[in-house]
Amino acid sequence: MFEYLITEDIASLEPYPPGKPIEEVERELGITGVIKMASNENPLGPSPRALEAMTAALPQLNRYPDASGFQLKQALAEHLGLDMANIILGNGSDEIIELSVHAFLRPRQKVIISDPTFLYYSKVVQVASGRLMQVPLKNFQHDLTGIGKAVDEDTRLIFLDNPNNPSGSLTPANELKSFIADLPRTTVLALDEAYRDFARNAELIEPGELINGDQPVVFLRTFSKAYGLAGLRIGYGIGHAELIDYLDRVRQPFNINSLAQIGAIAALEDKEFYEKTRNVTWSGLDYVWSELDRLGLRYRRCQTNYFLIELDKPITEVVDYFLKKGIIVRSMEGYGLKRTIRLTIGSPEENERFIKTLQGILDL
Ligand SMILES: Cc1ncc(COP(=O)(O)O)c(C=O)c1O
Repeated sequence: MFEYLITEDIASLEPYPPGKPIEEVERELGITGVIKMASNENPLGPSPRALEAMTAALPQLNRYPDASGFQLKQALAEHLGLDMANIILGNGSDEIIELSVHAFLRPRQKVIISDPTFLYYSKVVQVASGRLMQVPLKNFQHDLTGIGKAVDEDTRLIFLDNPNNPSGSLTPANELKSFIADLPRTTVLALDEAYRDFARNAELIEPGELINGDQPVVFLRTFSKAYGLAGLRIGYGIGHAELIDYLDRVRQPFNINSLAQIGAIAALEDKEFYEKTRNVTWSGLDYVWSELDRLGLRYRRCQTNYFLIELDKPITEVVDYFLKKGIIVRSMEGYGLKRTIRLTIGSPEENERFIKTLQGILDL
C-alpha cells in the first residue's frame, strides 16, 4: 500500500539473516539445552572483569553516556600505541561500516567487496544507493588482483574482511601492503579485522604502520568476539585523525551506551580472559579438525573462530538434523556455498557434542 514511499533500493532489500537465537529454537522445538555454534560468538561468556565493572555501574544508568567515549578511547589509544584522535567508537563494528558509507559514499558511486563476504556490507551500500561490485574469492582467498583491476576513479570504498567471513582465510600482510600501496587515494579501504585476534602464527599489519600515510585506510575492530561482548554492541575504527573526524561527524551523539564504555575498558584489561579465549579456540579447532580428518570429511583450515565444512548431503537436511539435536549451525546456502556449513568453535563439551551429532548424520 505504501510502496510509493520508498526507493527501489529499499524495496529490494532483504532482512539480514541472523543466526537463530537459542530461545527461539528451544521454543519452536520444545527442547532445552540447545547450543549455538553459528554466529562466531565466544563460548566462554563475557569477560568476567567486564561483567563486574558493568554491574557496579548499573546505578548510574539514569545519566546519559559520555558522548565522546573519552575513557574508552584513551584506553584503546594506549593499547594500540596511537592517539585518541585515531579512534572512533561504534555500536558494534557494524556501525563503523555504516558510518564509512555515510561519510564517504554518494549515491551511485562504486563499492567493491568480495563474494562471499560479510553480508552486512552489501546491505548498507544498497540502503545508500551505492553501486556494489563483487569480486569472487579465488581459492577461498580475497582476489586482490581482481579487486585492484576493478577499482576505477568512481570507486569510493572497498570493504575487505581480513580474515574473511565465511572462508576464515587471512590475507598475508605483505600482499595486503602492496595492494594498498597501489590503490588510488580516492578509494577508502575499510579493513575489517573482526577476527584478527584468532589468527595463529601469522604476520599482521599494525594500524600505526599505515594510517599516517596518504592512502585512506580505516581498520575495523570489535569487542564482540575475543572479548565475549557481542550483546553489548561495541566496536571501533582506527584511522588517520582527519578520516576519523569525518566519521565522527555522521554518528549519533550517544551511540555508545555507558555500560558498553565501561565494559569494554575492563575487557581490554582482562588479559587472562582474552588469552583463555584464544587458547580454547585454538585447542578446539585442533580437536575438531583431527576428528574431521578421522571421519574423512572436507573442511577449510582457518585463522578465525569458525570454519567451513563440506558435507555430501543436502544442506537443509543437515542443518535441520543438527537443530533437532539441539545444535545451531550456519548453512552457507545464502552465501552461494551449497552443501557447506559454517561451524563456530565452542567449548570443549560443545565441540564433542558437535562431533558426536555429526557422526549420527554420516551414519544415516
Ligand atoms: C567480518 C565481520 N565484520 C563485522 C562484524 C560485526 O561485528 P560487530 O558489529 O558485532 O562488532 C561481523 C560479525 O559477525 C563479522 O563477521
